[in-house]
Amino acid sequence: MNIEDFGLDYIVCECFDVTLGEIIDSIKAGNNTLETLMYDTDAGTACKLCQSKEMDEDKDRSLHLTTILEHFNRQNG
Ligand code: FES
Repeated sequence: MNIEDFGLDYIVCECFDVTLGEIIDSIKAGNNTLETLMYDTDAGTACKLCQSKEMDEDKDRSLHLTTILEHFNRQNG
């Protein structure tokens, strides 16, 4: 699935109820590394499953922070 297939209100991080829209806003505000994005939004800082596919072996989450970051960094790079 592509990022475009998810709505802005899709919950990327269930632990902290962080939406795709909030993640995108944070990336656009300059938090374009996993570390700064996690620090800014709290997403990915509890169970960590939403961080990346590698952290989510059982595919608990459909969209991961690293996937979103790669998408935007590719656009801007
Ligand atoms: S779903 Fe994001 S830290 Fe648990």
